Amino acid sequence: MPFERTFAIVKPDAVQDGHVGEIIAAIEQGGLQIRGLKRVQLTPALCKGFYHEHVGKGFYQELEDFMTEGPVVMLCLEGEGAILAWRDLMGATNPANAAEGTLRKRFGTNIGRNATHGSDKPESAAFEVGYFFNAFELG
Ligand code: RTP
Ligand code: MG
Repeated sequence: MPFERTFAIVKPDAVQDGHVGEIIAAIEQGGLQIRGLKRVQLTPALCKGFYHEHVGKGFYQELEDFMTEGPVVMLCLEGEGAILAWRDLMGATNPANAAEGTLRKRFGTNIGRNATHGSDKPESAAFEVGYFFNAFELG
């Protein structure tokens, strides 16, 4: 498995519900290293750039309203197979379909309000890490 980086977000629902600490604990217990970490209030423009592949889809406006309703915590994670490892910890996009014990099962509400984000492939990870982190923040 490649040693790689991925990009993670604790979405506004999980921040508001006070689950940041539990999610960071799951990351560390899952063997992933935290290379970058910060709390950010997204704007509609930042959200459109980040989720550019979803702009224009039926659910996009709902997604933007959710992602900008309160602060998020974003992280750059690193490790062997980090992209898949983080997606395994998150579980399926829809919490109703997510495996028991996964973060979206534990903290998500529905397919829209699903607690966490993770990059889906190396190209996305490189774009997303670079979109939100400066090099000096990834020590
Ligand atoms: P993410 O990008 O946030 O990690 O989620 P994902 O890869 O599992 O799912 P993706 O297809 O990329 O969708 C991005 C986010 O959009 C919201 N969504 N809502 N109402 C809907 O039908 C719907 N579909 C997707 C979710 O918040 C999803 O995580
Ligand atoms: Mg996605």
